[in-house]
Amino acid sequence: MFSGQRILLIVSGGIAAYKSLELIRRLREGGATVRCILTRAGAEFVTPLSLAALSGDKVYDDLFSLTDEAEMGHIELSRDADLLVVAPASADLLAKMATGQADDLATTALLATDKPILVAPAMNVRMWEHAATQANMALLDERGVLSVGPSEGEMACGEFGFGRLAEPEEIAAAIADFFRSNNRLRGTRALVTSGPTYEAIDPVRYIANRSSGRQGHAIADALSRLGAETTLISGPTGLGDPPGVRVVRVESAEDMMAACQAALPVGVAVCAAAVADWKVTSANPQKLKKDGGLPRLDLAPNPDILASLSAAGTERPALVIGFAAETENVIEHAKAKRAKKGCDWILANDVGPATGTFGGARNRIHMIDDRGVEAWPVMTKTAVAAELAERIADHLAAGSGKGPAARRGKTAA
Ligand code: CTP
Repeated sequence: MFSGQRILLIVSGGIAAYKSLELIRRLREGGATVRCILTRAGAEFVTPLSLAALSGDKVYDDLFSLTDEAEMGHIELSRDADLLVVAPASADLLAKMATGQADDLATTALLATDKPILVAPAMNVRMWEHAATQANMALLDERGVLSVGPSEGEMACGEFGFGRLAEPEEIAAAIADFFRSNNRLRGTRALVTSGPTYEAIDPVRYIANRSSGRQGHAIADALSRLGAETTLISGPTGLGDPPGVRVVRVESAEDMMAACQAALPVGVAVCAAAVADWKVTSANPQKLKKDGGLPRLDLAPNPDILASLSAAGTERPALVIGFAAETENVIEHAKAKRAKKGCDWILANDVGPATGTFGGARNRIHMIDDRGVEAWPVMTKTAVAAELAERIADHLAAGSGKGPAARRGKTAA
């Protein structure tokens, strides 16, 4: 089940830390190589010796150990793994992950890694339900950190509720799921556009829009997590590069178009960028001065990237997906847009000022394909991205037909 996979297991403090021993046994039985980091609090509950005996490797537990640094630096430790698993993940460690602290080996490895992370939280029910922990988990979820549990039950402290560490077999099953889906798009090339474009008025001023790039970046991240060789072509955003994704930064719509063409051929293209519809033909090579009077801006249409990818002849990706940003008559406009642009799927979202979609963390999607309209529940942009990536994988696996194959089943309108 885990043959050839390298797992870095971080054991933090908590009465449930003993379950990590059983988890190691299962992972190794499945063929994984397991390396362990034990936090200082974790060492109050399990000994380095028992972790070392079960993992068959030395246990890393001291950021400042010169021997460890010489053998394997803390950065290599995390880079060398296919997956980082934090089990149990205490409230404290989750808070440190959310705020990017790095004051011991575990937190340093977690901050330095560009590898996927799965956390299995375990704590007292009140700590779990506290707004701070829930906000930390939401932030980690938005960043693509996977989680399993906690489950409900009697706690060591005598209370009852959510907070118990998931059982080792559940954690092992979540890890197996991760490795299964991690390979679903291996061998597929993907192209994603994201962010706004800037259309120059003069060397310091430009026309732009309110797109944050969060949805597009999340989609590139989700496709890459399923194993796709992903190119993200992004207008200016304040976002970091998703790990493992080739990022091409552009400013104008024309540059974005050229970068997209250079990225072909791909199996799937997702156009999530809010491309400016017009460019300024009268862009001035020098900064316009106020005392020169009111400037006149002549506009010309920009190339339509989605439409041109959809009509790319032999270079056309097998699946072309667009977004429709609408402020009214969302579904009607999106259906018309799909027909006009010739793409396979359109994900319509309401970007009216009251929705908070532009720049916000959540999105309400209506997905339109040749079978109709499907309303998705309100989801975080990360969840929308993960859902879309799974559907893309389903569709490409099904090999034909224009709709997402197996996973359909929500409300169709
Ligand atoms: N799009 C594109 N190139 C453009 C304009 C839009 O690739 N020059 C893509 C967007 O990335 C999105 C889809 O087309 O996937 C629809 O974008 P949207 O802004 O909703 O529509 P427009 O085509 O700009 O039409 P309108 O502004 O009239 O709604």
